[in-house]
Amino acid sequence: MTQELTSPSPAPQAPGTGRGPGWWRDAVIYQVYVRSFADSDGDGIGDLRGARERLPYLKDLGVDAVWLTPFYASPQADGGYDVADYRAVDPLFGTLQDADDLIRTAHDLGLRVIVDIVPNHTSDRHPWFQDPELARQRYLFRPGKGESGELPPNDWESVFGGPAWTRTDRGDWYLHLFAPEQPDLNWDNPEVHTEFEAIMRFWLDLGVDGFRVDVAHGMIKAPGLPDIGHGAQAQLIGAQVLPFFDQDGVHAIHRAWRRLLDGYGDALGRQVIGVAEAWAPTAERLALYVRPDELHQAFNFQFLNAPWQADALRSVIDASLAATASVGAPTTWVLSNHDVVRHTTRLGGSLARARAATLLMLALPGSAYLYQGEELGLPEVTDLPDEVRQDPAFFRGGRATGAAGPGTDTESAPDGVATAGGQDGFRDGCRVPLPWSGELPPYGFGPGGSWLPQPADWSGLTVAAQTGDPASTLELYRAALELRRRLPGLGDGAMSWAPAPDGVLAFTRPGLLCTVNTLGHDVGLPAPGTPLLSSAPVTVDDATAQLPGDSCTWWAI
Ligand code: NOJ
Repeated sequence: MTQELTSPSPAPQAPGTGRGPGWWRDAVIYQVYVRSFADSDGDGIGDLRGARERLPYLKDLGVDAVWLTPFYASPQADGGYDVADYRAVDPLFGTLQDADDLIRTAHDLGLRVIVDIVPNHTSDRHPWFQDPELARQRYLFRPGKGESGELPPNDWESVFGGPAWTRTDRGDWYLHLFAPEQPDLNWDNPEVHTEFEAIMRFWLDLGVDGFRVDVAHGMIKAPGLPDIGHGAQAQLIGAQVLPFFDQDGVHAIHRAWRRLLDGYGDALGRQVIGVAEAWAPTAERLALYVRPDELHQAFNFQFLNAPWQADALRSVIDASLAATASVGAPTTWVLSNHDVVRHTTRLGGSLARARAATLLMLALPGSAYLYQGEELGLPEVTDLPDEVRQDPAFFRGGRATGAAGPGTDTESAPDGVATAGGQDGFRDGCRVPLPWSGELPPYGFGPGGSWLPQPADWSGLTVAAQTGDPASTLELYRAALELRRRLPGLGDGAMSWAPAPDGVLAFTRPGLLCTVNTLGHDVGLPAPGTPLLSSAPVTVDDATAQLPGDSCTWWAI
């Protein structure tokens, strides 16, 4: 598919161009799940025009950049993570011109734009896979085992459930770590490398400021594709190095991409980045993805999966900061995304905890990703009927949100705290379209309906309902992001722990002290300063502060 641009002018430039300490080191980046953000044409599916129209909202929220999930030509077997043409926009989401317009508008507003790149697999509708000769060279085909090749080549399981292999009508098998419609590419073939570098240049030429690298830990498989010999592979993902995940060979690819990104950025006086979606078993192995010659950021899923307990949070924060500091990188915090149960629901169905967790995250040194709707305190939707489900894992009997990694499976979660709370763990419940305004669905999402039904009781959660209400979650996010901008050094500066009672965390940052009460009841302590911002009303009497249960407070010191 060829799509034309009508804009005559050269690629738009990102705000604040040029080399500096690294804009990404402390950026707050907002994830736009395009299909559920804003719909401009009434088909019930969010699109690029809808997203562009809402960019002023994001500017006003106070984020630095947006990450757009895949909007490329795709049969949508996995929400667009099955790409048939990496250089075309799917008609569901608009045109290439719409993408260009969105990038220009974002830059005019001072927002950077990150797009997804999906290098582990393509769609089975990709022209390479459609051509049997090309397919054989560029994907992972193997003969089957058994007398007549009727058994899969090894015991690997798809993240979405069932075997990771599908037999073709020619009799051989191809590997798909995800759905059968997502065949894995053969990264031993140099043509695959060349093509992905060309795809990156295509989007960089259009002005994007970086890439979120999907399954950044998956492209290289262990030589010989050895069996794992374990019946419950889903539970091993992210818990140990597997023959298909977190192989050391992936780092050579990231080093090549870093050279490309730096070379491109230097030529234009910009900093363009890569962020790894990588599930690594330890903070140390995750840090390998952000060594100085690799990607810039890597989502910290160990923080996302931490239970709401002071000791556990403190150890994951310490381990993460130590690991990334050892390679000179910032830590990239995240609490929610389109693959996991929304953190309001995951943290015990408690909006109080979710608000506190967010203030904690935004007080930590490093960058942070926000997932659309968390600024509204949206819960996971847990009563979706089967007939509206779209998550391919739901249809393959896979595990809960297994695409993202471990700890999202409510049954196998080690403590049932950090991960529990979804309907059944599949991923549609966190992808319900956003409520913008009004009393009834689709709450201003667009002029038509919404591709997943929105709850009937969301009128109080809309952007319009929360705007201007100082007690709302939206205004809490706005205030936190504004303070983060105003306090120099908060993003990337030093952090040290301060003494605190059991169940409470306290730490200092340049210009503030942050307290987090993870207990379900008030805790009194000597007031550490003047409250600047709190996730719940905090009182100070006679120099004693009462921290409400499940709260986080930023104190001026
Ligand atoms: C991670 C993406 O976030 C998820 O949505 C997708 O299903 C898998 N990668 C496969 O591309």
